[in-house]
Amino acid sequence: MDEALGDAVPGVRPWSNAPHVISRLPWVGPGLSILNNPTEFFQRQRERLGDTYYFESFGYRMVCVFSPEGVKNLWALPEKEASKGVGDFAMLSHKVPAELFAGRRTFPHSLFGRENVETYLENLAEAVALELDLLGDSGEFEAFDFTRRLAHRMGLASWGSPLATQPGRIERLIEAFDTLDSSESFVHPHKGFATWATGKRKEKAALLRIEEIYGEILAERDAQPAADRNEGFFEQICQAWEDESEGERARGIAGDVMLVHMGSQSNLFAAMAWTLIHLLERPALLRQVRDGDDDLLERCTHESIRLRQRSIVLRQILRPCVIADEKAAYQLEPGMFLATMLSVTNTRSADGLDQFDPDHYSGPRFTRNGEIGARELVTTFGHGAHYCPAARFSTSSIRIAARALFDKFDLTPKFHDPQPLPRQIGGVARADRPCRIGYRRITP
Ligand code: HEM
Repeated sequence: MDEALGDAVPGVRPWSNAPHVISRLPWVGPGLSILNNPTEFFQRQRERLGDTYYFESFGYRMVCVFSPEGVKNLWALPEKEASKGVGDFAMLSHKVPAELFAGRRTFPHSLFGRENVETYLENLAEAVALELDLLGDSGEFEAFDFTRRLAHRMGLASWGSPLATQPGRIERLIEAFDTLDSSESFVHPHKGFATWATGKRKEKAALLRIEEIYGEILAERDAQPAADRNEGFFEQICQAWEDESEGERARGIAGDVMLVHMGSQSNLFAAMAWTLIHLLERPALLRQVRDGDDDLLERCTHESIRLRQRSIVLRQILRPCVIADEKAAYQLEPGMFLATMLSVTNTRSADGLDQFDPDHYSGPRFTRNGEIGARELVTTFGHGAHYCPAARFSTSSIRIAARALFDKFDLTPKFHDPQPLPRQIGGVARADRPCRIGYRRITP
């Protein structure tokens, strides 16, 4: 337990409508404790101050809600009053070059809203088969390194053009996307200073490299007959830029691909890794999955995400509005942030939720909603208007990848009891240690 999270954390006060007493160095007190272990920080303050409280840190004025009524009302606030988009930007702008956010035409909602399930499932299966071929007959991999690479390939095959996944090209794209990776800003928040201090030089160079590679991809694509392309979501992205000049078109398409791909880097590969890890830790469940139980595999995926969620749900207040909990209603003013933390609510809202149990899910439905006061207290892909547009795509991806891996390889866990990285404040957890897995091909 972090001693710095003791009762006397400066800058943290119970939230009330009265003017707040602010510590002399508000960014030093809660700031460092949040960076060390945000989940512990939010929970300890909750035990000390109650389910609704206020603090100031790093220039953020933050109202936190953890009670059933408070969390339910947070999810229900409209975007024009309490914005997820502006809140995300505040977090990501420490890492991502601002020019990437300007002028985007294709967003995940429109992409997945018109999804052609057949094409994308085919593309995913093909991408997985290619990556598994590269493993050879036997060896060892680190779970998160492996799924990160796999998810890059699956994502790019879906929305980045099949031409992006060609040997020689995919390696260059992966390197650039890993440099640009916006999830770094909440997985390793303490590194944010270095990014800021270097003026995001590496990130800007990675952005230019990706634009250049998309110049090549489009030149090859334009020379292909349309019927041979089998492009999935990439076709939709290209359509949005059809009428532009060559350079503008390549930059626009590259920018749209980057935004979608960066959204996917936050969670998908980590959810895939935990699903493998939890199954490898439980031989009886693994046997059932190996015998073909896809329903169990899907429940294990949802349970892995629930248990390993580290997302802060963050809204920036744009217009005066009100948040109510069971005891009172509070005025929120523009510029403030409203937050809850999934790693706290997902695991502490009822007994036993800190443990992995696939019976917590029936398909995608959480089975213990009746016990927890508000269904919003537990979530995998969010609630309401901001529910993840790629939820179905993500569970399909994890099912296809895990099924192919279990069908083709005997796997041996070489890790012991990995836990979430304590510093993470967003997305699905990365592990606090390497999770190595030995493999041997079953079928030639
Ligand atoms: C297992 C994988 C994933 C998990 C667990 C996950 C989880 C979530 C959660 C909890 C939210 C709501 C956050 C909030 O309201 O504050 C969300 C929203 C979102 N997710 Fe995902 N996500 C996953 C995969 C993806 C992928 C693959 C993409 C893109 C290709 C994506 C794009 C988005 C976008 C754009 C939103 C914002 C939606 C909006 O503001 O209306 N997600 N996701």
